[in-house]
Amino acid sequence: MVQVLADLGIANPSVREKNVERIQRFLTSPIGRKVMMGLTGLLLILFLVGHLVGNLLLFKGSADFNNYSRTLLSTWLIYPVEIGLLVMFLYHAVSGVAVWWTARTTNPTPYDIKVSRMSPASRKGFSSSTMIYTGVIVLLFLAVHLITLKWGGDGGKFRDLAGDVKSMFKNPVWVGVYVVCMAVLGLHLFHGFGSAFESLGFRHRNWLRRTTQAVTVVLSGAFLLIPVLVMAFF
Ligand code: HEM
Repeated sequence: MVQVLADLGIANPSVREKNVERIQRFLTSPIGRKVMMGLTGLLLILFLVGHLVGNLLLFKGSADFNNYSRTLLSTWLIYPVEIGLLVMFLYHAVSGVAVWWTARTTNPTPYDIKVSRMSPASRKGFSSSTMIYTGVIVLLFLAVHLITLKWGGDGGKFRDLAGDVKSMFKNPVWVGVYVVCMAVLGLHLFHGFGSAFESLGFRHRNWLRRTTQAVTVVLSGAFLLIPVLVMAFF
């Protein structure tokens, strides 16, 4: 144990400082940024899967949906989860803009050109070449989403959240906004989900790409259908 602490430099301030410096250098290097973007991207997708399952409770009944939300909000775990989500969304977005800006403002080296020719992941498609725009739209959507649904209504913890969602989707303008934004989210994940695995060191495999793309279609398709179904049936 003492040896492990010594190796990490916990007990020695100068070793600790060097390790912190190394971590900082890694996090701001192009490779480090890509790895962290992949990691935060996958964790955010995991959140989306959980969020979708929770949202589907709307169709089981308002009481189930409200109870689920109240149970979540009543545990202390919600605070670290919300802070973690906020940090991940912001880190992912800021790094995305930094990677996009670097690629825009620097000429590709012969090495970059060789790698991009070798790597099927970097072949340009509509989804991959619009990542920055779809990412910004998802971020704007998120801001509006949180203002209207999370902090909307009377803002209380124990309000009728199902009622708030249903009255929002009575308005066809909101349904339209959600349908467009969920399609944009799908476009972002169509490239991003598979690309996250490759940033984390997984080799490009067609089956992996296809699986991530199929999961994306199901996930964003289900999110997209929620407002439409709520408008049609409630
Ligand atoms: C039809 C689609 C969606 C519906 C009906 C929906 C519904 C909701 C509701 C009702 C809340 C408030 C929960 C509460 O206060 O207990 C919420 C929170 C949230 N939603 Fe959504 N959502 C949808 C899509 C999305 C998408 C696509 C994202 C991400 C891109 C997202 C991210 C979030 C986040 C981060 C929170 C805050 C979670 C927390 O603080 O615990 N939502 N959503």
